[in-house]
Amino acid sequence: MSTPPVKVAVTGAAGQIGYSLLFRLASGALLGPDTPIQLRLLEITPALKSLEGVVMELDDCAFPTLDSVEIGDDPNHIFDGVNLALLVGARPRTKGMERGDLLSANGAIFTGQGKALNDHAADDVRIGVTGNPANTNALIAMTNAPDIPQERFSALTRLDHNRAISQLAAKTGSKVSDITKMTIWGNHSATQYPDIFHAEIGGKNAAEVVGDQSWIENDFIPTVAKRGAAIIEARGASSAASAASATIDAARTWLTGTPEGDWASMAVRSDGSYGVPEGLIYSFPVTTSNGDWEIVQGLEIDDFSRAKMDATAQELVEERDAVTELGLI
Ligand code: NAD
Ligand code: LMR
Repeated sequence: MSTPPVKVAVTGAAGQIGYSLLFRLASGALLGPDTPIQLRLLEITPALKSLEGVVMELDDCAFPTLDSVEIGDDPNHIFDGVNLALLVGARPRTKGMERGDLLSANGAIFTGQGKALNDHAADDVRIGVTGNPANTNALIAMTNAPDIPQERFSALTRLDHNRAISQLAAKTGSKVSDITKMTIWGNHSATQYPDIFHAEIGGKNAAEVVGDQSWIENDFIPTVAKRGAAIIEARGASSAASAASATIDAARTWLTGTPEGDWASMAVRSDGSYGVPEGLIYSFPVTTSNGDWEIVQGLEIDDFSRAKMDATAQELVEERDAVTELGLI
């Protein structure tokens, strides 16, 4: 092993996503075979027993990259010195719910965890929120961690980004690896705006390759935006392996950088770019390097895109108002 270990906290570690995520983290999917990983796993007390079973299985994999595993129910202890915190632990929605319905059930989790990260995480910590409603949970954690730079918080829209790439590849008969510059704007919710007007397929403009505005409006956008609900309908439970995979993709991109000529979608604190109200955790196209992100600037936004970007911003404003009222921020 040539590099020092990286401490990665995962909350909700005994849950569905955890069951996929931990094994990928432990096997080196995040930072490759030369970076040892120290897992710090947080659960609520009643789930610790089940988490012990998961740790037994992690042991049984004998992953060369897994340096150590610590479990517990106290965020102050588990977040001690962590370089990366993946906040997954939260209740998933069930059939018929929108993700915003989880605000009061899950929001409170992120006040305590924000404070604990503020007090105990390593100076270089990066925090990725997967637990829903992810954007507003990230806002709650960020607001409760005043000493951590705000750009260290992000919420997961990489799953939507990956879904959008997969749908576009299927429509155009191209490979997912030929698709670049996909963008998800806004909230990880049904109001999100998957935008292919700047995307490219083998270097050609994706919307032009598709050449079918009706497919974009009536098929592609709703399919991507409502994919989470479709999976709940089909599986009887919310997406787990794909969510874990996207959580790793997002963290790896953040820590190791976007490839030349491409970008990723990440929900980060708006600085007012593209007219998005400052302070919202809103998904933008970003480039990353050395653990920092930058919003891609200068993209042309037509009226169709503008309306969709504004609608999803408005939903985030309403979520922010709701958690303000709940006293969470
Ligand atoms: P799950 O119910 O299987 O697991 C959640 C786990 O979190 C449980 O083990 C629970 O005990 C734990 N937990 C609850 N409160 C906690 C706390 N205060 N501290 C630590 N752990 C706590 O759910 P899941 O399927 O793993 O999904 C987790 C979350 O991720 C849900 O909110 C779900 O909606 C969300 N999700 C987000 C995306 C995304 O793209 N952003 C995708 C899929 C799922
Ligand atoms: C998803 O997008 O699959 C998750 O956010 C789960 C959900 O509630 O849709």
